[in-house]
Amino acid sequence: MTDSLKLTIDGREVLAPADATLLEAAQAAGIDIPTICYDPRCTSNGLCRMCVVEARGARTLVAACVTRAAEGMTIATHNERVLRSRRTTLEMLAATVDLSEAPDIQAQMAEAGADAARFADGATRQPEIIRDNPMYVRDYAKCVMCWRCVQVCAEDAQYTFALTVAGRGFDTHIGTFLNKPMPETTCVFCGQCVGVCPTNALKPVKAWELEQAEATA
Ligand code: SF4
Ligand code: FES
Repeated sequence: MTDSLKLTIDGREVLAPADATLLEAAQAAGIDIPTICYDPRCTSNGLCRMCVVEARGARTLVAACVTRAAEGMTIATHNERVLRSRRTTLEMLAATVDLSEAPDIQAQMAEAGADAARFADGATRQPEIIRDNPMYVRDYAKCVMCWRCVQVCAEDAQYTFALTVAGRGFDTHIGTFLNKPMPETTCVFCGQCVGVCPTNALKPVKAWELEQAEATA
């Protein structure tokens, strides 16, 4: 088995480590593929579908963050089919999530020409802000379900397992075991979940209080 492989990305022949994902192969070649749920600190789950690319011969678009590169593959990262898919992904996200504090996603929407109102039908989730501990606030109206917080709380870093993915279907959400208040869980308030959250759904209490004070001043 060789330790590198050759593939073609956007018409360019590139070399990648034998165990690279398509995302890693593209990044190594200086080709940018947009991501949302991917974080190099966390195990990739291929949840958001923002990183989809077209692999010649594949029936569907594939998520670059979880698809291994293979010798001889031919990949398109920015053709019309890919761009349309990413635009729709962003429009569906904007229809259900408050992205007001997610500047990276807002920039992706602008670049993709995504219409935030396309699927908006008033069904935006409005869960209440949870303030159940002195360290951080949870505002799940801003949650894009990337699972990063759950993963750093578990095997990817902290091994405390205070956070979990709960519910089913449209009710799927991030929460605690049996929905217990944070102080009644195994949480040690290490702050890693806050650090990896891409949308400010998790925010230090002090920062949140300052914002509230400014808003009502
Ligand atoms: S709370 Fe933040 S880190 Fe956790 S799943 Fe939601 S967006 Fe991702
Ligand atoms: S970044 Fe690949 S599926 Fe989310």
